[in-house]
Amino acid sequence: MMTPTTTVPATVTAFDLVSGLSAQRPTLRRRLSAMAAMYADVEAARAQVERDDVLVYEFYDMGVPETSGDVAYGTSITYPGKVGDEYHMTKGHFHSVLDTGEIYFCLRGTGYMLMENPEGDWQAAEFGPGQAVYVPRRYAHRSINTSATEPLVTFFAFPGHAGHDYGTIETRGFRKLCVERDGEPVFVDNPKWAG
Ligand SMILES: [Fe+2]
Repeated sequence: MMTPTTTVPATVTAFDLVSGLSAQRPTLRRRLSAMAAMYADVEAARAQVERDDVLVYEFYDMGVPETSGDVAYGTSITYPGKVGDEYHMTKGHFHSVLDTGEIYFCLRGTGYMLMENPEGDWQAAEFGPGQAVYVPRRYAHRSINTSATEPLVTFFAFPGHAGHDYGTIETRGFRKLCVERDGEPVFVDNPKWAG
């Protein structure tokens, strides 16, 4: 009998349930200057960058091999804040291999997973601690933090070969924006959507 091939040894990684961070690896960090043009109020974004180029979100790439038999995973932390009346969010992406799904399990905070497929169908799933959102195949996805005070901390997992396509969303945007109206998050049409 052949010994099964393993590419990644059994690994234990500690992620802090409050901060979402692991002391064992560096994060990839995205400051507002790296995504100012993605917000509806570009002037507000640029003014904020001038005052303080805030850290909007950070996440882990655990370095799992990019093969279909492996599972990429890590935490994502989106910090509270708004640009104009639009809540802090991640850039969002399609998977390069479009036909791959993903799971996000919320550890802390409150917010939405905004999803959109190439045909323009969109969904926004509200989630909080203990709730998992399943992102279907073919749907771009973006985390949005709607809390005024707490980071949105999630644990994600997706097929190792999925890859990331950030460019499509950078070009076309999401169909919907998540903005504050009378103290509540609502989704409105994105006037710049190019889908
Ligand atoms: Fe993804």
